[in-house]
Amino acid sequence: MSIYFEPQSQTFHLTNGKVSYLMKVMPNGQLGQLYFGKAVRHRASFDHLFEMTTRSMTACVYEDDDSFSLDHVKQEYPSYGTGDFRCPAVRILQANGSDITNFTYVSHAITPGKPALEGLPATYCEADDEAETLCITLRDELIGMRVDLLYTLFSGHAALARSVRLVNEGGEVVTIDAAMSLCLDLPDCDYEWLQLSGAWARERHIHTRQLAPGVQSVGSIRGTSSHNHNPFVALKRRETTETQGEAIGFSLIYSGNFLAQAEVDSWGVTRLTMGIHPFGFAWKLTPGEAFQTPEAVMVYTDDGLNGMSQTFHRLYQKRLAHGYWRDRPRPILLNNWEGTYFDFDEQKLLDIAKTAHEQGIELFVLDDGWFGQRNNDRAGLGDWVPNRTRLPDGITGLADRIEALGMKFGLWFEPEMVNKDSDLYRAHPDWAIHTPGRSMSHGRHQYVLDYSRKEVVDYIFESMAKLLREAKISYIKWDMNRCITEAFSAALPADQQGELFHRYILGVYDLYDRLTTAFPQVLFESCASGGGRFDPGILYYAPQGWASDDSDAAERLKIQYGTTMCYPVSSIGAHVSIVPNHQVFRITPLETRGNVACFGTFGYELDINRLTGDELATVREQVKFMKEYREVLQFGTFYRLLSPFEGNYTAWMVVSEDKKTAIVGWYKMLNEVNSSFRRVKLRGLTPEMEYRVNGKWVHAGDELMHVGLLTSDSSAGECREGQKPSCDFDSKLFVLQAE
Ligand code: DGJ
Repeated sequence: MSIYFEPQSQTFHLTNGKVSYLMKVMPNGQLGQLYFGKAVRHRASFDHLFEMTTRSMTACVYEDDDSFSLDHVKQEYPSYGTGDFRCPAVRILQANGSDITNFTYVSHAITPGKPALEGLPATYCEADDEAETLCITLRDELIGMRVDLLYTLFSGHAALARSVRLVNEGGEVVTIDAAMSLCLDLPDCDYEWLQLSGAWARERHIHTRQLAPGVQSVGSIRGTSSHNHNPFVALKRRETTETQGEAIGFSLIYSGNFLAQAEVDSWGVTRLTMGIHPFGFAWKLTPGEAFQTPEAVMVYTDDGLNGMSQTFHRLYQKRLAHGYWRDRPRPILLNNWEGTYFDFDEQKLLDIAKTAHEQGIELFVLDDGWFGQRNNDRAGLGDWVPNRTRLPDGITGLADRIEALGMKFGLWFEPEMVNKDSDLYRAHPDWAIHTPGRSMSHGRHQYVLDYSRKEVVDYIFESMAKLLREAKISYIKWDMNRCITEAFSAALPADQQGELFHRYILGVYDLYDRLTTAFPQVLFESCASGGGRFDPGILYYAPQGWASDDSDAAERLKIQYGTTMCYPVSSIGAHVSIVPNHQVFRITPLETRGNVACFGTFGYELDINRLTGDELATVREQVKFMKEYREVLQFGTFYRLLSPFEGNYTAWMVVSEDKKTAIVGWYKMLNEVNSSFRRVKLRGLTPEMEYRVNGKWVHAGDELMHVGLLTSDSSAGECREGQKPSCDFDSKLFVLQAE
């Protein structure tokens, strides 16, 4: 792995044998972008890639030179107003009202390893030889603004992590109006844009469209990364499939307002920018102060979308998520939410936990309703003290009893929220975000605490830490059930109100950091009405996240399939729930619910005492299966095989590191009659190995990959005696073991 700087040609080349990233200092001293893609051999000069020419009707930089126009060159960190009319990466408002800047190259440093980003989640390395970091310093001499562009190239990954630090080295206060984490000018626009979008209960569905001239974007201005759009996009070639072709994935390690945008200019250049959404953002930077943007990660592949996803999975699983649970198979849990909602007392919980334990379930999670006056969703948020009517011996007593059963105990919090009907709100009404003199919009009767204020974060840390110190709590579900409205902080002056959204998220990260540091063995699962804040920023602290409030197996196929575009299976919270399903009222087989959820962190979300004896037997089988295979299911290499967005069938698979074990999940929506024989081509196996499938037939790896695994069921022809009749929402798991 190498980061080269060629002084003669003023060229930077970052390459690790998988990818190359090329930049050069342009004639005007600014930084130009030359290339990002598959690795190319290093050479002393790539100047031929820097193209300029004379064109009519162009604003040019030099009075006597018609050929150098910023509108036509590919740039690295451009600003607006000096001839480039595309959306900029950075905009600095100055004391005299001007926003013109000129950031030119000053110096650079290449260091082994990767520095941490203060206060922000980011990828990391555990040894200096895992990565190399380039910091390029640019400066606007007129106002004394410094910009440090940070690039980290990882040795084993086709990934480049980027962020930007802005330092006010001048004498005047400035306001950062936009500071994107990355900007990439690509030489053509022959791409499809892929985004993960949806809404509550249908998060991260895959949408693709051809890039077109002009601006296309996704983003959030809700205060969370949101259910609606995920901070991930990919540019893929039209011919790129899951298994072959070029794609570049862009992912922002951030949980607040974001923008991911592609602007195709009139000459077919694509400018991709990603970072904090400039709308509603204005950061005051006084002399001597610095601002650090969140980190963005770019992944290049020519191995298709699966190749791109696998790079993200490996990097995010091993070098973004961190702590005790990072590499550990996750406990099989039962969460009481859909089983009881607010209608429970201690005995009911213990009855559920006891039956769960008898089936082999390892962790009992008590969801919403255990604290303050929380008998419904109108009261109690903010009062993190046990409700003694429901739990006479508090959380300590309940946790002891659960542990005595032989299970671990987990607890739900929604630490960022407050109900007006709470002791916390009565004591500190100004801690709820609101704009003076304006009405307060509620979401589920609740309001958002002002996490830009340290005293608020301190208070919540103390109330949560008290419980964590007192009671045997092994797991926390951290929920967040509304977005931010009437954004205003009573603690910020008028000229800093534009900082609230970002300061809020920094406060959330601070609390996560303090809790995970103080209680390193507690497993955190993030949640935001399901998948409303399922992003890499939160993944840094919480290695798993409740992917969606929709627990219907059929809906989940789309949600989980889309989620794997960027996120590893070990991060996807997936549970088996009751039927008719509570979100779509659909009835699916218990086997299928288990077969979908096992490609996730796996658990149950139901009143297990309402299951029949046969159903309990199925649960026992599922739990046993999960215990045997969760290592490979959660940490194996994941392949998407058939897309739920494209037809009646979905299939995916995982392969163990040694390629000796593989598990294929195969799912059908509606049953068919007199249908075709079916087979699905597997991936990632060793061609020479022989695999026994479900303990029965043996097939060679090459056969399974090139000919395919036969998945035909009784819908092909007539159902023979002894054969299981196929049905709607049917599914099968195939376990492949090398002989
Ligand atoms: C929304 C979450 O997504 C659910 O799983 C559950 O925890 C409820 N909140 C509780 O209020």
